[in-house]
Amino acid sequence: MADHWNKVSLLGTLTILICFTAVNGTSSETCSDFQSFSWTSILRKSELNVQFLLLTRRNVDCAQVINDENDIENSNFNGSLPTKLIIHGFRLTGKKPSWIDSMAKELINAMDVNVVLVDWNIGAVASYFNAVKILDKLGEKISILLQLFVLQGSTKESFHLIGISLGAHVAGVVGRMFDGKFGRITGLDPAGPKFSNTGVDKRLDPDDAMFVEAIHSDSDNFGISQPVGHIDFYLNDGKKQPGCTQTLLYSVYKRVICDHMRAVYLYISSIKNRCPLVAFPCQTYEQFTNGKCVNCFFHSLQQCPRIGLLENGSLQALLQPREVKAFLMTSSHVPFCVNHFLVELFLGDVGTYNQHVEVIFLNNNYANTSKLKLSIPNKSSKNRTVKTVMSYDPSRGNIMAIFIKLLSTWYRKTHAIYIEKLRMTEIPLNSSERSFRCIYNMTLYKNLFQQFVNCQ
Ligand SMILES: *[C@@H]1O[C@H](CO)[C@@H](O)[C@H](O)[C@H]1NC(C)=O
Ligand SMILES: *[C@@H]1O[C@H](CO)[C@@H](O)[C@H](O)[C@H]1NC(C)=O
Ligand SMILES: *[C@@H]1O[C@H](CO)[C@@H](O)[C@H](O)[C@H]1NC(C)=O
Ligand SMILES: *[C@@H]1O[C@H](CO)[C@@H](O)[C@H](O)[C@H]1NC(C)=O
Ligand SMILES: *[C@@H]1O[C@H](CO)[C@@H](O)[C@H](O)[C@H]1NC(C)=O
Ligand SMILES: *[C@@H]1O[C@H](CO)[C@@H](O)[C@H](O)[C@H]1NC(C)=O
Ligand SMILES: *[C@@H]1O[C@H](CO)[C@@H](O)[C@H](O)[C@H]1NC(C)=O
Ligand SMILES: *[C@@H]1O[C@H](CO)[C@@H](O)[C@H](O)[C@H]1NC(C)=O
Repeated sequence: MADHWNKVSLLGTLTILICFTAVNGTSSETCSDFQSFSWTSILRKSELNVQFLLLTRRNVDCAQVINDENDIENSNFNGSLPTKLIIHGFRLTGKKPSWIDSMAKELINAMDVNVVLVDWNIGAVASYFNAVKILDKLGEKISILLQLFVLQGSTKESFHLIGISLGAHVAGVVGRMFDGKFGRITGLDPAGPKFSNTGVDKRLDPDDAMFVEAIHSDSDNFGISQPVGHIDFYLNDGKKQPGCTQTLLYSVYKRVICDHMRAVYLYISSIKNRCPLVAFPCQTYEQFTNGKCVNCFFHSLQQCPRIGLLENGSLQALLQPREVKAFLMTSSHVPFCVNHFLVELFLGDVGTYNQHVEVIFLNNNYANTSKLKLSIPNKSSKNRTVKTVMSYDPSRGNIMAIFIKLLSTWYRKTHAIYIEKLRMTEIPLNSSERSFRCIYNMTLYKNLFQQFVNCQ
């Protein structure tokens, strides 16, 4: 019976391969593509059906299958170049991951590298828990491939595994098989279910490579919330991504995985390195937004980490960091970068109850650019400064002025607030050369328009 199914599915796979094979007219080279899921393959359940596809600068659009030594020798694989493997995660639909070609292209554009797509589509489909079960086997297959690369002259340090969701833990499995001796692992929203709070032998962890980084974007849902790398980047609060709650997103499926996929799209965008995605090491997102982590000197770090291909995430540290969380705010669209500003209010007389103000920031054309709502503590609070970190889209121009409003409530009248100073500066604040901009002496009982001046 099993034999019968094998034949049927082999036939299916062959047919699909032929259908997907395009012949390049000039060189008559055969291009390969992802295996397609078929209903017969699902009946084989846990059978692993992995395929490795190679893309290089010599074949950007035409993947070569490199499943064994012979394939590798006859391919464009170059052991003198670094090698990047992309490992996808669980596939609900069994379709080829839509983003995988553009990730490969950006990598090849950015560097002369061998890019290997690990196609385990057929094993990854349909049942998440089944997919989880085959990770070790898949890891073994990948490490056999990497051993073959070593025979072709590759160094272990030149391997970089980019794992998405479940793929991040697969990268961890492979890293462990190499005793953490290879170069880098990037986990893109490493999967959470079945991995949260498990031992390090079950999931991605900092001992799996010389440099392990993760980007978290859906840590309350499909992603893992705990740090798993040397550096763990959390986009916004690591849970809810801007633009993902819009009802405009046309399909339910897209809406459900929007937060999870943000790590992937942001990483693809970061490869181009069009703008710096600098993150702030901090214990929690709340501490970060409350202005407690405005410079980059955290533990032994000498610089803020950055998302992208930079060596070691551009980290410079006296001691190797471990499971350090770093936060950054993002916009809702490519290239996702924002500037971060620290806004501080130094309060004078504030009244007997807590109130709120709204600050609208205006650019040089006096257009509204961004908005903050701040809580002003009452007289009995010893706290006379209010600090917050604001994200700002630099394409909106320089901030020149504010429009500030005391928000009233229907049940009581507002009490005037005296603000001695409103100060703002771009962060990271690790150099003394940062310029602060200030507004002094505001008595706020209704709306005020004020322009920034240089701080005294
Ligand atoms: C075939 O490959 C060559 C060189 O890689 C490329 O310039 C050409 O556009 C390809 N032709 C087709 C039909 O894809
Ligand atoms: C492999 O890459 C190295 C380093 O870029 C280069 O010098 C060499 O020519 C490449 N080999 C082949 C066969 O392309
Ligand atoms: C960073 O790079 C250096 C040199 O390439 C390496 O020794 C170190 O282990 C890397 N990782 C971290 C987390 O610093
Ligand atoms: C401050 O941090 C930024 C971003 O990480 C970095 O580019 C800059 O060199 C740092 N400045 C100093 C003085 O460390
Ligand atoms: C004043 O602030 C304190 C501390 O935040 C709070 O407990 C108290 O309820 C506030 N009083 C009024 C009248 O809002
Ligand atoms: C900017 O915000 C202020 C205060 O909410 C509002 O009165 C004004 O109409 C806004 N201007 C524009 C151009 O949106
Ligand atoms: C005072 O305000 C700052 C900034 O909002 C906040 O970080 C700090 O926790 C507050 N301190 C107290 C004692 O409430
Ligand atoms: C703000 O008020 C203080 C105290 O009244 C005064 O010393 C200071 O010069 C004023 N600052 C500005 C910029 O007006």
